[in-house]
Amino acid sequence: MENLKINIDKISGFVSKEAVSGYGNEAAKHISALKNKTGKGNDFLGWVNLPSSITSANLDAVEKAAHIYKGKVDVVVVVGIGGSYLGAKSVIEALSHNFALLKGDTTFPQIVFAGQNIGEDYLYELIEVLDKKSYGIVVISKSGTTTEPALAFRILKNHLESKVGKAKAKDLTIAITDEKRGALRTLATQEGYATFVIPDDVGGRYSVLTPVGLIPIAAAGFNIKELVKGAVDMEKICTTETSLEKNPAVAYAAARNALYKAGKTVEILASYNPKLIYVSEWWKQLYGESEGKENKGIFPASVTFTADLHSMGQYIQEGLRIIFETVISIKNPDKKVLVPTDPENLDTLNFLAGKRVDEVNRMAELGTMLAHVDGGVPNIRIEIPQLNEYYLGQLLYFFEIACGISGYMLGVNPFDQPGVEAYKKNMFALLEKPGFEEETKKIKARL
Ligand code: PA5
Repeated sequence: MENLKINIDKISGFVSKEAVSGYGNEAAKHISALKNKTGKGNDFLGWVNLPSSITSANLDAVEKAAHIYKGKVDVVVVVGIGGSYLGAKSVIEALSHNFALLKGDTTFPQIVFAGQNIGEDYLYELIEVLDKKSYGIVVISKSGTTTEPALAFRILKNHLESKVGKAKAKDLTIAITDEKRGALRTLATQEGYATFVIPDDVGGRYSVLTPVGLIPIAAAGFNIKELVKGAVDMEKICTTETSLEKNPAVAYAAARNALYKAGKTVEILASYNPKLIYVSEWWKQLYGESEGKENKGIFPASVTFTADLHSMGQYIQEGLRIIFETVISIKNPDKKVLVPTDPENLDTLNFLAGKRVDEVNRMAELGTMLAHVDGGVPNIRIEIPQLNEYYLGQLLYFFEIACGISGYMLGVNPFDQPGVEAYKKNMFALLEKPGFEEETKKIKARL
């Protein structure tokens, strides 16, 4: 069976072999620190061996709970933000039909998200739709105190209770939170919601393979056993092999650190399949929150080609030479569309007649990679054989462990996010939250 593959050959004109292998030689030490919990942020390393520690009984319990919605409601609203949202969203978007809403497949409910923004129009319009649909709620917050999901849940809970009554609303709500702490735990206990626990030692952005990701993904009808199997297989490779050649996470971490040291401070994750847009969003959070601290770290950005070749393509080709590109490539598309012959050939595309659309896409990828490398943009290529649960499991775990290794190579703690607190303090002060009186005075004096 094929596995995820990485190719770092196209960075060779930009960094020396020695620079990359120098980082590669550090990898064994970092992998051992991750496994033995001896490095920075060692309280948050529960994700390292998480895939192999998930039992089939755990997965059965998740499926059983998530399938209460199947055939019963039209929509499940998943409430969460950051790591309590992006993992589920990335997998569901990657596996869903591009036009699921128009296709109207009703075996499993549609999954929509809330609490990932504070948009009043967003919530109004969501409720406007939910007025006419049956729905359930999965509310996710590790701390149980995050403002955005708490606010959305308060509004949705109120709406669902008025729509179906308190008892039925309770049966349609699942809460995923800390085992003991936080306002959501208290509320769930008081209301009698079904609950799942986010382990203490797994931070939000590394939690996609806990119930945080698994409940929404299973509720959407996708195979969480295959997802976890893919992650288990990647865990085996990435926690036992230590060389650049055998461990794709080491190759990725070493390549990006060598490029960063050579002045390539922006990494653009590119894909040629729009279903991967949220995998990129998940990846941006993972790498941005893990490495962007102590005034260092690669800035993670993303594009979807070929669409963005007609917008960001110009900058990537000829703008500041601080960029490297990492492409996620899917070897085999699921479906087949052939280019038809046209007797008039007014669009001059008959040279493509009989070819698969994917061949055009692949040549676009190859042509773009060569053009960007020629233009001064090193290229890393990650390939998965197919876009399915199994390979997504491989991909997500690969990115997680590579992020841990890469963060240690950079010398930061990849498992904290102290910088996220700054905006919250100001927001609470401006909203005059009790307990923030001093901050309120200070911030108002600045306005
Ligand atoms: O990665 C993280 O830790 C954060 O992005 C959190 O997931 C996010 O802030 C949401 O936190 P919580 O689940 O506590 O509501």
